[in-house]
Amino acid sequence: MDTEILKVDPINPDIKLLSYCAQVIRNGGLIAFPTETVYGLGACIYIEKAVKRIYLVKNRPMDNPLIIHIANLNQLYEVVREVPRLALKLIENAWPGPLTLIFKKSDKVPYIVTGGLETVAVRMPAHPVALKLIELSDCPIAAPSANLAGKPSPTNARHVINDLYDKIEVIIDAGDTFFGVESTILNVTEDPPVLLRPGPLPLEKLKEIIGTEIIVPDFARGLYDSKIALSPGTKYRHYAPSKPLILVESRNYKDLKPIVFKIRELCNEFKSKGKKVMIIATRETYSMYEGCKTIIIGSRNNLYEVARNLYKILRMVDELDIDIAIIEGFEEKGIGLAIMNRLRKASGSKITLI
Ligand code: TXA
Ligand code: MG
Repeated sequence: MDTEILKVDPINPDIKLLSYCAQVIRNGGLIAFPTETVYGLGACIYIEKAVKRIYLVKNRPMDNPLIIHIANLNQLYEVVREVPRLALKLIENAWPGPLTLIFKKSDKVPYIVTGGLETVAVRMPAHPVALKLIELSDCPIAAPSANLAGKPSPTNARHVINDLYDKIEVIIDAGDTFFGVESTILNVTEDPPVLLRPGPLPLEKLKEIIGTEIIVPDFARGLYDSKIALSPGTKYRHYAPSKPLILVESRNYKDLKPIVFKIRELCNEFKSKGKKVMIIATRETYSMYEGCKTIIIGSRNNLYEVARNLYKILRMVDELDIDIAIIEGFEEKGIGLAIMNRLRKASGSKITLI
């Protein structure tokens, strides 16, 4: 299949072009489109053949449910059975935005969207292109991240092209996404609500909005993959580069010297074994790794910058001529919790704690 690549302005998208894309969606096609978090691979939720193709082209297990993207609250009431009071506060304060909520599903939602579950994940994205596309399609859009299963989520159109070119009808290219990590997922069918995936909307902010406790299971911190997964997605390996990634965590990020020492030691050890090593450092530590190949992921004073560069760099690990990458850990504060969840998963069990 010839995939069309359509460039649009992220802030002021060409409506004619998006109307064309909406027509493709209504005809049962698949479109990769930008959201403020990562690129999504979308189909109309009511066209089951199209939704099934999402799983096939991504090579995604059919029991790993998709997020429904909506453009207005009418569409929310179309796809959920009820909206708990607690969710109303979140919707009012955080939508449109990088927050996905789990509800009980309505009868209208086909089971292929929810992987057979009675619950459904819903979010209203804030990206102008995503919002306009959903609105013009006149149909809620089921969309997982637009990567092949097991690869890091795409944060620009090139990543999508690498994974899905020739397999889908259209790729909308609106440049880099804004946050670079996937939405925060909160299950509001439980009381207290459960954080299923940390994201750009931080836990601290969620608590402030709802004013109650939130359960944070270990897997939401990326600490282990529960066999009886609460969020079906958590039982699958995610965000993983195919080369080894070593994460060096610290109990105290105020003093960076021990972490730098440990990484230098690891780097020299691997080099002496003839391995090509790359260190993923921060602006604050970059100059301390003399003699080792090093790149900067961002500044510790702006973890949003680190999040934005994260998946680009994980993909780079696979593309560059290196054997192994070593990355510094971050404090689990704000978006740092989302970064650490992704890094722990990407590094598998190769975590060093100092
Ligand atoms: O930022 C995002 O959320 C991006 C953009 C495209 O919107 N989407 C995204 O989708 O990350 P995906 O499919 O890569 O991740 C969705 C996660 C999966 O881990 C899935 O298991 C979980 O949401 N999920 C979906 N429906 C669920 C449900 N009913 N209950 C629990 N978890 C659910
Ligand atoms: Mg994904």
